[in-house]
Amino acid sequence: MKHLLKLSDLSKEEIIEILDLADKLKKERKEGIDHPILKGKTLGMIFTKSSTRTRVSFETGMYQLGGTAMFLSSRDIQLGRGEPICDTARVLSRYLDGIMIRTFDQSDVEDLAKYGSIPIINGLTDYAHPCQVLADLQTIREHKGKLEGLKICFVGDGNNMANSIIVGCIKVGMSVAIACPDNYKPDVDIMKWASENGEFLCTSNIAEAVKDADVVYTDVWASMGQEDEAEKRKIAFKDYCVNANTMSYAKNDAMVLHCLPAHRGEEITAEVLEAHANEIFDEAENRLHAQKAILVKTMA
Ligand code: CP
Ligand code: NVA
Repeated sequence: MKHLLKLSDLSKEEIIEILDLADKLKKERKEGIDHPILKGKTLGMIFTKSSTRTRVSFETGMYQLGGTAMFLSSRDIQLGRGEPICDTARVLSRYLDGIMIRTFDQSDVEDLAKYGSIPIINGLTDYAHPCQVLADLQTIREHKGKLEGLKICFVGDGNNMANSIIVGCIKVGMSVAIACPDNYKPDVDIMKWASENGEFLCTSNIAEAVKDADVVYTDVWASMGQEDEAEKRKIAFKDYCVNANTMSYAKNDAMVLHCLPAHRGEEITAEVLEAHANEIFDEAENRLHAQKAILVKTMA
């Protein structure tokens, strides 16, 4: 695997291989075994947006694999002053062994890969969050023992998380339902692809979408970069909350996932979050293990 730009670039087999390796690395880590597979290698981490999980799990993951990671805030590097991606890519390729980037435009991530000569990993764009969904799939498989045939329902904004959940979950044979207001649907091309390649539903009817779900997933109503729309979105999304009533439509043993950070009282109630804290914080932990697998697959 050369890069991880978006999940549609991966085959089902490649996704399962990443999950298997993530499970193995997780088990070995718990047993105190670390492999210095990336000894002497450096990952640059470009951040144009904030992060807790992505930053800390990538940095820790590189360290556990014997390498090192460098935090590059776009505010502090010349990229933030307008140096073009094509030049940044060629320069950083001379120093680093891989780049993880979190930014706005998916095209910036694709351009880094196009102009650079080292592996590029998408750490979140407005379009996709592939690393999160690989950790999510690892978590679902851990808790449910399988992926194929399960139903996931995403409740809320048709954002980067919704896009990547659709692609990742359809690829592994899950059924995907999205409950969102009409004006906040996921990417049109992704929805078309999903309808042609699996069982997919997008509706504004939350009860219909959540019905018999094995996994209920939600994310913030206003993503990073949409802060000035927060008030407008609070009105548009007020009925799209994962609360006890929403969960009553899902299977009795349904799990709840949230990529975090969570806004209690908006997209999820404190009660539901705390009842499913075990699943949600396993999910956060699995960012580390899944990303170590991604780092090994792209940089080793
Ligand atoms: N879920 C996620 O990507 O978290 P951070 O924004 O903290 O990295
Ligand atoms: N949709 C959210 C995800 C955060 C991990 C955002 O882009 O801000």
